[in-house]
This record gives sequence, structure tokens and C-alpha cells, in this order.
Amino acid sequence: MAFSEKRENNGAAEDSNHSRLIKLREFDDTKLGVKGLVDAAVAKVPEIFRISNNNNKHQSSSGSVLTIPVIDLKHPNTTAAAAVRREIVGGIRGSCEEWGFFQVVNHGIPEGILDEMIQGVRRFHELDPEIKKRYYTRDLISGFFLVSNFDLYRSAAASWRDTMGCVAAPDLPPPEQLPDATRDILIEYSKQVKQLSKTILELLSEALGLEPNRLNQLGCGAGQLLLGHYYPACPEPEVTIGVTDHTDASFITILLQDQIGGLQVLHRNKWVDVQPRKGALVVNLGDLLQLVSNDKFISVSHRVVPKRIGPRISVACFLRPLIHKGDTDSPPVYGPIPELLSEENPPVYVEADVREFMRIHSSRGLDEPSPLQHFRV
Ligand code: OGA
Ligand code: NI
Repeated sequence: MAFSEKRENNGAAEDSNHSRLIKLREFDDTKLGVKGLVDAAVAKVPEIFRISNNNNKHQSSSGSVLTIPVIDLKHPNTTAAAAVRREIVGGIRGSCEEWGFFQVVNHGIPEGILDEMIQGVRRFHELDPEIKKRYYTRDLISGFFLVSNFDLYRSAAASWRDTMGCVAAPDLPPPEQLPDATRDILIEYSKQVKQLSKTILELLSEALGLEPNRLNQLGCGAGQLLLGHYYPACPEPEVTIGVTDHTDASFITILLQDQIGGLQVLHRNKWVDVQPRKGALVVNLGDLLQLVSNDKFISVSHRVVPKRIGPRISVACFLRPLIHKGDTDSPPVYGPIPELLSEENPPVYVEADVREFMRIHSSRGLDEPSPLQHFRV
């Protein structure tokens, strides 16, 4: 290619990057997210959301009977005999080694609270736009927020979803900072999820062959970020993504989804649907659990495909280390847990500074390689 021709092509690419950036800013500046587009009755998905054709790396397993494992918790802390607990722990171990995902039933959170939490997220996203706008920000740690696409300026295509949320542990923001539409249920749901997360971390510790308290003591549930996602009905689902494939930068994520469906996990190079199950919660392992387990348990790619029907609503609680300003007594680094290492099983990760880990995570597009790669031996 002649020099002048090449320069012209680069110039064209720059122009198109520039015009994309302008469109992204315009969208961001509306502060109304994807819901704002849907309210304006767009018949076509705007350019910034369009995925390229070669983005479909893996096949879907449509027609397959595969489903992620369901674990019946049967209130393990109160009534279960040792044999039942062993069975639960065995089920969790298998799920974490094979899938990185499982669903839990009989987890102790009443179905009425789950339903009301979904409604609370819906009420917030369907608030009067002028009220909702006031919460729109890319600052996810200082209070309650609304945002569309955490990685808006970094991803190849924007996702058809908006998100509200706040830090939920160690503490929620003061109640007066939470919107009326969701305040009471957010406080109640977050209390219940904290309780359940302790139980799940105990079971995961046992599944790794560790003392039941080990992961709780390591602070794996100390920081929690609660997100309420809203995936509006999409006029052109075949060219759009609800959320692009990614792994979570958490120890674990506890997810509540409504009955619409669309969440898929990558299993043996195929996308498998996570079937909505009334009353169940989905648990998935994040990159930090893969790291501390020294690859015994896996953090698996997942995505959400959009639909013509909607909105779909989900609530994700990310269990993370304390990483915010002022959290001085939390451990600064995480590495493979020493009890899991031996001569045959040497560490595959170096110790990761959690602030560095989170910085790498949030400075890339969700669809780029996970920060785990940076810390491999
Ligand atoms: C996430 C996520 C899935 C969903 O928040 O990281 O994967 O169903 N959510 O909303
Ligand atoms: Ni996720």
C-alpha cells in the first residue's frame, strides 16, 4: 500500500473513532441510558450498540439438555445432619470445578423478598426521567448511582442495559441517599444477602477442603457491591448484546434474575442458558476466587443475550475485598491460599494487590482478557 493511501485509511479510522466517541458522549450526556432510547421509541438500535459479525466466537448449545447444577441448601446451619452437609459441599465442589456456576434453592431468603427486590429495581428504572437523571454518574463508590455501560468508552459495542446500585457492605449509603422507589427493599435484601453470603463462603471453604470460616476470615465477603440491572426490550436483538461476555472481578457473585431469561454461561466452548427458576439464586465464582483457589475452582465467562420482550431485570451482588479509600485494615494482597499448595500443586499465581487488580479490571472493556492473566506465575 502506498504511503499516501495508508495515511488516508488511518485518517478514515480516526474519523470514525472520533464520530463514535461523539455519539457515545451524546448518549452518556442524556443520563437516561438505554431506557431513554426505548422511551423515545427507537425502531433501530443505534450504531454504538451494534456488534460486529465476527463477534460470535462460540456456538450456542440450543437444543442441548445441559443445565447448570442446582444445589438444595436445606438450611445447612440449622437442621442439616452431617451427611446432608457433606452432600451439599460435594455438589458445590463439583459445580465449582466443572461450571463455576450453580443455582441455590432453599437458601432462606423468602420468595416475597426476591420478588419485591425485582420490583424495586423496576420502579427505580421506570421513574420519571427528571428524577432518575439526578443519580446518573460513573462514580460507583460514593453513593447510590445510575449508569449505562460501565465500560461505555472502552468496549467495541455498547450493551443494551442500564444499571443502578451502590456499595452494600461494609455499609449501605445512609437511607436518605437511597431513592424512595427502592430504599426499603434494598436495605432488606442486602441484609438477607449478607447472611446468605456468609453461609455460601462457609460451604465454599469446606468444598476447598479448608476450615469453614477460612474464606470469611480472609475477608472475601467484606466488601459488597449491589447492582440492579435493567435490560429493556430490544428492537433488533440479533445485532445487539445485553451484556458482552465477561468474567466477574469478585470472589463470588450472587445473582437474582426474573423469569425472562437470556443469561448464558460458557461451558465446554458452548453457550448454555441459565434457566430462570422461581425462588432460586444463581451463584457464580469470580476471578478472585479462581486466584485464591489456585485454579481449583473456575471463574467462567458469561453474557446476556437481549430479547424483543422485556424489560429483563436482575440483581447482582458482588462479594469483593474492601478496596475503597479509608478501608485501611483490609488485606492488601490476595494469593493462592497456602493450605491448598503442595509440591504437586505449586502456586500458579503471584500475590495480587487488590487495588491493582481492580484498577486493571476497570481500565479495560468487559470483553478484554481478565486481569487474572496479569498475575499468573
Ligand atoms: C453481572 C452479570 C448477569 C445478569 O452483573 O456481572 O453477569 O443476568 N449479570 O444480569
Ligand atoms: Ni457477570
